[in-house]
Amino acid sequence: MKPLDVLIIGGGMITCDLILPSVYHLQRTERAGRITVCALNSAPLRALAESAELSEAFPGQSFEAMPALGEPPDRMFPELYREALTRLPPRQAVVVAVPDPFHYDVVMEALRHDQHVLCVKPLVLKHEQAHEIEQLACRKGLFVGVEYHKRFDRRSLMARRQYALGQFGRFAMGEAKLIEPYYYRHSNFQNWFTCDKTDPFVYIGCHYIDLVYFITGLRPTGVSVSGVKGRFPNGNEGYLWASGRVRYENGALLSVTAGLGYPNDAAGSNDQGLLMYCEGPDASGMIQHVDNDRGVRHCYLDGIGCGGSKYNYVSPDFYRVVPWEGPGYKPVGYGYESVAANLETMARIETAVAGLAESESLAERRRRIAEVDRQGILATPANSFINELVVEAARISIERDGVWAEIAYHPNPHVLKI
Ligand SMILES: NC(=O)c1ccc[n+]([C@@H]2O[C@H](COP(=O)([O-])OP(=O)(O)OC[C@H]3O[C@@H](n4cnc5c(N)ncnc54)[C@H](O)[C@@H]3O)[C@@H](O)[C@H]2O)c1
Repeated sequence: MKPLDVLIIGGGMITCDLILPSVYHLQRTERAGRITVCALNSAPLRALAESAELSEAFPGQSFEAMPALGEPPDRMFPELYREALTRLPPRQAVVVAVPDPFHYDVVMEALRHDQHVLCVKPLVLKHEQAHEIEQLACRKGLFVGVEYHKRFDRRSLMARRQYALGQFGRFAMGEAKLIEPYYYRHSNFQNWFTCDKTDPFVYIGCHYIDLVYFITGLRPTGVSVSGVKGRFPNGNEGYLWASGRVRYENGALLSVTAGLGYPNDAAGSNDQGLLMYCEGPDASGMIQHVDNDRGVRHCYLDGIGCGGSKYNYVSPDFYRVVPWEGPGYKPVGYGYESVAANLETMARIETAVAGLAESESLAERRRRIAEVDRQGILATPANSFINELVVEAARISIERDGVWAEIAYHPNPHVLKI
């Protein structure tokens, strides 16, 4: 397979905890080429370059930093990603890992520069924008993936298969919960997680919205979200908690509880899970995923757990680095598998079209991308567009304290004006 160069735009938490280590592993196993990381300023890039954890796991590996590590940490380069894109040869891989409100501009710019894209969730905050991205990518024969890694959790894949086989019945009533740690409030989040931009339903509830659709294929038709506002340490006001309900085309209902407030001293690192009740002929079925406690508990001598805690429920399933038969440690888990599957899909497409004339290459790239869309395992703008509809409806609803926002699918998918 032809390894693609990788440009990661954004050097924050998700880049440090998942994207960069995954790409490092792909690089040393010859499935990724040169790596560049571009951030707003040099400070997060320095933290990545100097991370003891990353250098222990990936000895001898590094990335090109934009801006350079020697730049003063408080000097901002909001437009530098554009230059990073121009430096990349066409049809390489761009990973977009900037705050949600910037996804649209950065993804569109990457496509305009003929790059394949993997964007962290949620792709964008408006359905129309997702549609625009889908159309531009299709016109240019470029792959766009959305990093909804819960799809790669084995329990989700099992549920999808068995739901399709009719082994649970039809989804009727459910609840999902994702509460991220309190200490998030002290991070860079306080600068962008403000009431006017996003909220916990959009930020993390979207994982379970995507998952219920991934499992059942049912399209949402209405959303109601209420929030609880509070202040971040820097004084900015954000929705710190959100409670939503989603109605589906078959009448089913899902409640979603999301927030930035799981106690730092608690064991779970976060609180999350999904419970779905289903109806069958004179019987009901059920899917329950306890996602915060996967049966592994560690108690450390020092407070090295999340939030400085000693006693932890440890998930071996999402992302860990473990000893392997090569140098350092290797990443394992569905987070890594999701990043790898997206980047490998781009590389496979490029390998298949190497040496073809441009018109044949374009037709073959489009054919392969349409196949990924149809399969529905990797999230793409074409097969995960319901997420943008829900996000858009949720933002309308939360600003009106829980008013129902309806979603219609004819003649085209859209959120009805309230
Ligand atoms: N579980 C998940 O799927 C998951 C988890 C965490 C974050 N995320 C998503 O990842 C994205 C980033 O989240 P995070 O937690 O890493 O945020 P963060 O605030 O820690 O980092 C954001 C990064 O974006 C960079 N940035 C901002 N503007 C930029 C610009 N103009 N050019 C280049 N870089 C720029 C900043 O320098 C910073 O490094 C968000 O969309 C979030 O929703 C997904």
